[in-house]
Amino acid sequence: MKIPFIDLTCQHEKIRDEIFSRWQELYDRTEFVYHRTCKDFEQQFASWNAARFACAFDSGTSAVEIALRAAGIGQGDEVITVANTFIATVAAIAFTGAQPVLTEIDDKTWNMDPERVEEKITRKTRAIIPVHLYGQPADMISLRQIARKHKLLIIADSAQAVGSALYEQGRWNNPASYADITTYSFYPTKNLGACGEGGAAVTNDPKFAEFMSMFRDHGSREKYIHEFIGRNNRMDALQAAALLIKMKYLEKWNEQRRQVASWYLQDLKMVEEIQLPFVPDFILPVYHLFVILVPEREAFQQYLARYGIGSALHYKLPVHLQQAFRHLNYRQGDLPITEAVVKRNISLPMFPELTRKKVKYITDTIKMFFTEKNN
Ligand SMILES: Cc1ncc(COP(=O)(O)O)c(C=O)c1O
Repeated sequence: MKIPFIDLTCQHEKIRDEIFSRWQELYDRTEFVYHRTCKDFEQQFASWNAARFACAFDSGTSAVEIALRAAGIGQGDEVITVANTFIATVAAIAFTGAQPVLTEIDDKTWNMDPERVEEKITRKTRAIIPVHLYGQPADMISLRQIARKHKLLIIADSAQAVGSALYEQGRWNNPASYADITTYSFYPTKNLGACGEGGAAVTNDPKFAEFMSMFRDHGSREKYIHEFIGRNNRMDALQAAALLIKMKYLEKWNEQRRQVASWYLQDLKMVEEIQLPFVPDFILPVYHLFVILVPEREAFQQYLARYGIGSALHYKLPVHLQQAFRHLNYRQGDLPITEAVVKRNISLPMFPELTRKKVKYITDTIKMFFTEKNN
């Protein structure tokens, strides 16, 4: 059996006609760039996240950077985030001229450890960027307390966690309600993926929203009148149209991902060698990725490949050990939990259309690997 790490074709086959007919309308009225459809998307995406404003961008990387700029963060400021993330989170901090400060993750949830954040706070710290990694929100309840205590902003990177939730005060809440600004990526493989590049930020603060929407449009609110130097980071209409259609299915797809995850968890819970993802009671994840920790990862990954099973590493090297950030002067051993997780993590196939039969084939192959290894 051949099971790719991710298969986008099944999802796109089902909505092909819907998307193509919408794109045809746009083509016929030559609506290609930021206009009506992007504004519709912003409105719907804001209300989907129970936020007042959404701003659509050309990527998730732009979303993080422009959110930081909206908060007035730049040269001389420090921003705390994690090293176990896609490099974009940290690069966005660097783009603003601020100093990224990398903190440790929790060894069970693999998300930012709130207990380790305070030790990184200095006079220069302005914001914290928790990353809702693999589709699981960080502990925003504790992080919000820390942010309030130290008067810091929270800009959450939710590129991987659209549709996730946190339980507090008797109800499920959107993680965006715990942050000053929350950013998203619509890279095609994301839970809500465009048919190209895209990103967004949501906020309840009108000042942040106004800055973000002006910055991505050359600092203007009125055509050809520029109040400050911005850039072109606008979303295009084709992406907004595709996203509007896909949003209708997002909850169902996220539910299917949770089903796939529950099969993995059920099948693998007795395999001692594996550390499975840990989800606290107050968190509803959306399993952008299904990541496990294994010993002898290279042999494990090769074994899966031999049986036709795709996999990936998120991430191969933590940000503090990337050459791109060598000027931050971190060394091997500075973030031991992060480094230990990164050595053993592997992402198994995860997409909404995975069937029970396929998951069983994957978990049977995994069990076989450990039985053979132990004999
Ligand atoms: C955690 C995280 N942050 C930021 C980004 C950047 O998003 P984009 O690729 O849309 O620029 C990604 C995308 O992969 C991501 O996973």
